[in-house]
Amino acid sequence: MKNTCRVRCEDRKIRFQYPSRSRERAGQDRGCHWRLASAVIIALAFFLSVSPLSAAEPSPAEGYRILREFPFLVPDFDEEVLDQLWTVWPEGMKQKAAQATSEERRRMTFEQYGIQPLPGQDYSQGLGYVQRTTGDWVMNCLACHGGQIDGKVYPGLGNADFDLQSLAEDVGIVKKKLGKTLTHMDTAANKGAVLSTGPGMTAAVNFGVDLGALRDKEMNFLWTAKPPERPDYGMDAPAFWNVKHKERLYCDDHAPNYHRVIMQFILHPWNNADYVKRNEGKFRQIQAWIQSVEAPRYPHPIDEPLAAQGKVVFNNNCAECHGTYENNHVVNYPERVIPLDEIGTDPVRVKELKPEHHQQLAESWLTRKDDGSGEHYEVVLDPVGYLAPPLKGIWASAPYLHNGSVPTLWHLLHPEQRPKIWKRTSRDYDTEKLGHTVETFDALPANFESLNKYERRRFYNHDDFGKKTDGHDYPSALSEEERRAVLEFLKTL
Ligand code: HEC
Ligand code: HEC
Repeated sequence: MKNTCRVRCEDRKIRFQYPSRSRERAGQDRGCHWRLASAVIIALAFFLSVSPLSAAEPSPAEGYRILREFPFLVPDFDEEVLDQLWTVWPEGMKQKAAQATSEERRRMTFEQYGIQPLPGQDYSQGLGYVQRTTGDWVMNCLACHGGQIDGKVYPGLGNADFDLQSLAEDVGIVKKKLGKTLTHMDTAANKGAVLSTGPGMTAAVNFGVDLGALRDKEMNFLWTAKPPERPDYGMDAPAFWNVKHKERLYCDDHAPNYHRVIMQFILHPWNNADYVKRNEGKFRQIQAWIQSVEAPRYPHPIDEPLAAQGKVVFNNNCAECHGTYENNHVVNYPERVIPLDEIGTDPVRVKELKPEHHQQLAESWLTRKDDGSGEHYEVVLDPVGYLAPPLKGIWASAPYLHNGSVPTLWHLLHPEQRPKIWKRTSRDYDTEKLGHTVETFDALPANFESLNKYERRRFYNHDDFGKKTDGHDYPSALSEEERRAVLEFLKTL
C-alpha cells in the first residue's frame, strides 16, 4: 500500500507539489500527500540544517514553471472537446478540417481561437493552458500574456490573437453535444457574458471588478453578493517586459507592482480565502518571472544612421513622457500619467473603473503588506488618465495604445491617417509600418452581417464602446522626415 502510494505520487510529481483542486476537495490521496509531505519536510529540515542557505529567493525559472504546470482554476475543457471544436465551424472551414490530419487540425484549432503553441511552434501543448495528466486544460496567465509576433511565440507578450469569446462559446456547444458539464468560461459565454470584444481584446479588467466585488477584505467569497452593474469592453494585454521598469501596474498606474495584486486572476469562487492565501508564495515566484522577462530584439535590418537621427527627435519630443534609452537599455523612465483630456485616447477604461472598485482593492488583503505591519500599499482611487508606458520591445507589441486601437507604429506616428476600421489580413509582420498586416476600411463592408462570427469579430471598429482610435496626437508636430527617423529608432528599443 505504501509503495503504490509512493509510486503514484512520484508519477504525478507536479500534482503532489501543487495538488489539484478537485482531488484535494474530494479528499482523495490525502494520506498519500500527507506522508510524502512529511517526508519532504523532514528532508528539507535536514537540508536547511546543513546548508548555509536561508529562505530561498523567488526564482524566475520556478515562476515560469508554476505558470506552465500548476492549475489554479477549474478546467476549461479536455482534449476530447478541443479535438471536436472544428465540428461546430461554418461549412467551408469544417470541410477543410475534416480532410486534415489530426496534427493539422490541432494547428487549425489553435489558429482559429488564438491559442498559442509552445515556443518553437510546438503544438502538442497550448502555452496558455496547464495540461493535466487527466487530459484537462486549465487556463493560466499566459493565455492572455503569451503572444506571437513575426512567426515566433513569446511568453510575456500580450496575446493579440486570443478570441476567448468564440472559444468559450464553441467549447460550450461541444460540451453539450458530448453530454459534458460546462464550467466557468463556457457557462458565462452561454449566458451572454462578454469575455472578449475581438482578438486579443479580453474583458479581463471586468473579470477583476466582478470577482473583487464578491470577496470581503480577507478574501472570503460572498455567496450572496452580486457583481456590480458595469458596461462591457475589451482591452489589449500589455507586454510583461516593461513591468520591471514600473512601480505601479495597469494602464492607469493605479495599483502597486506587488505579487498579491496579480492574484486577482485566481479569485474563482471555488478558490476559498485559505486557498488564495496559501498560494501567495507561488505568486512571489510568478512575479519574479514577470520581472525577469526581457524584450526580444528587432529581428530585421535597421538603418542605424537614420535610427540615430530618430533618437535625437525622440529625446526632444517623446522622452519627457516615455523616458530615455541607451543601447536598448532604459536610462530614465519617469512613469508619468497623462490626464484624459490631454492624451485624448479612449476614456472608457479610466472612467468605468470607478473609485469604489479601486477602494475594494485598496482595503483588501491583496494590497496589504506581507510584513505583518497591517499597512497597505497605495492604490490610486481616482486615476486621472493613462500611463505613458516604457517603450522597450515596442516593435513586437502591436496593436498599440491601451485599447489596441492602432495596428502599427506607423499609424501611431500618423494620427491623421489612422484607420477607423481595420482587420488583420494575415499573421505576417509588416516590416514597413512595424506591426500587424492589416486591411483598412472607411465603413464596415456591405456583407458584414452575413459574415460568420469569427470574421465579424476580427473587425476593429472605432465606433464600438471603448475602441476609439483617436488621441496621442504628439507625433503630428513632427515632419515626415522626423517621423521616419523615429520609426527607425523605435526598432532599436
Ligand atoms: C483574460 C486575459 C488575462 C488573463 C488570463 C490574465 N491577464 Fe493580466 N492583464 C490582462 C489585461 C487586458 C491587462 C491590462 C489591464 C489594464 O491595464 O487595465 C492585464 C494586465 C496585467 C498586468 C499589468 C502589466 C502592466 O504593465 O502594468 C500584470 C502584471 C498582469 N496582467 C499579470 C497577470 C497574471 C500574473 C495573470 C495570471 C495570474 C494574468 N495577468 C492573467 C489580461 C489578462
Ligand atoms: C505628454 C506625454 C507623451 C508624449 C510627449 C508622448 N507620448 Fe506616447 N504615450 C503617452 C501616453 C499617456 C500613452 C498611452 C496612451 C493610451 O494607451 O491610451 C502613450 C502611448 C504611446 C505608444 C503606445 C505604447 C503601447 O504600448 O501601446 C507609443 C508607441 C508612443 N506613445 C510613442 C510616442 C512617441 C514616438 C512620441 C514622440 C513623438 C510620444 N509617444 C510622445 C504619452 C506621451
